[in-house]
Amino acid sequence: MSARRRPLVSGNWKMNLDHHQAIHAARDLGLRLRGADTAAVDLSVHPPFTDLRSVQTVLEADDVPVALGAQNCAVEDAGPFTGEVSAPMLAKLHVEYVIVGHSERRRLFGETDEVVAAKLRAVVRNGMTPICCVGETLEEREAGETTTRLTGQVDAALEAFDGEILPALVVAYEPLWAIGTGRAASPDDAQDAARVIRSVVAARRGDEAGAQLRVQYGGSVTPANAAELVAAPDIDGLLVGGASLDPAQFVAIARAAHPPV
Ligand code: PGA
Repeated sequence: MSARRRPLVSGNWKMNLDHHQAIHAARDLGLRLRGADTAAVDLSVHPPFTDLRSVQTVLEADDVPVALGAQNCAVEDAGPFTGEVSAPMLAKLHVEYVIVGHSERRRLFGETDEVVAAKLRAVVRNGMTPICCVGETLEEREAGETTTRLTGQVDAALEAFDGEILPALVVAYEPLWAIGTGRAASPDDAQDAARVIRSVVAARRGDEAGAQLRVQYGGSVTPANAAELVAAPDIDGLLVGGASLDPAQFVAIARAAHPPV
């Protein structure tokens, strides 16, 4: 990881923890972070929508050094879109980061590259930072198509941005075969993919944009593998699913991501 980019460690709670459980988890996280050496790492948690207000209240009242995040948002800012939650609603709750285009949303809910680009625009339009997920399937990897797949997804995401707002973007490299499988990418494979992502951004938007981009790795991250993944030069943080539900593990991962002082 470059000294110029602050690591970002994000906990994606997915569809877990009701608001009572979420309050408990956020308080627990706050207690464990007291005195933990994580000052040089940005942290975010991404609870389900129904938990956001409760978690916001705990994080703000207890002064927990963790940003509030969401897992998704609507394309439009308001209107007749039954069941959707808009980016302005999230911004009002002090949400700072929004995951966009997670592979579960692409695969299970039919989100196309175009929908992902529209959501990226909605997040940025409302002053928040998108974490755009990209990644290849096992079949694509075995067919030698990883670079093509990542390039296509990053190019599609860049459609959402003009040059000025690009610095706000975070890209999460999440190979589908590593998510929830217990089989994380090797640090070398994760580094290769992160370098591809950064080089696409640099090629399209200039070296400075490439150098500024924060690239997370996600997929079966645990306290045991976090440090070696984050040590890769193009990886600037982690997107953590299962292990983030346990505050002790999440804090251990955050500490592992702390750059050496
Ligand atoms: P996992 O999920 O850590 O449980 O593999 C990661 C993700 O989907 O963001």
